[in-house]
Amino acid sequence: MITGLDHIAIATDDLQAAIKRFLEDFGIPLAGTEVVPTESTSTAFFPLPGTRIELVAPLDGQGPIAASVAKRGPGLHHICFSTDDIEGDIERLRAKGYRFTSDAPKPGAHGTRVIFLHPKSTGGVLIELAQHPTEPA
Ligand code: CO
Repeated sequence: MITGLDHIAIATDDLQAAIKRFLEDFGIPLAGTEVVPTESTSTAFFPLPGTRIELVAPLDGQGPIAASVAKRGPGLHHICFSTDDIEGDIERLRAKGYRFTSDAPKPGAHGTRVIFLHPKSTGGVLIELAQHPTEPA
């Protein structure tokens, strides 16, 4: 089940300039940065109540963000819904005809498991589903 708006991702080819904009100009505190090697992506996180802005930049000029910036330029990249049952949501949405960009969830930032819905099946919006690890009891 989708439980919230996890983050809004903005693609940039200049992570330091984008961090400076959100941190210094907009005054949103930076929570941290993380490299996601599986996606060849560097990320920076700016939490806001209930969600966060995630800046995504190519790592070493490689990966899906590099391709996206080359094709469409920097800008809004995707939105991400949090889910408490990623397999269940994938199965439910596949049955409705939605397409995914991979067969199964992959490791994302913060120990999440993530998958993307293809924008051609969602009215032009790249949508990520993310399931956060359950806290140990
Ligand atoms: Co994301």
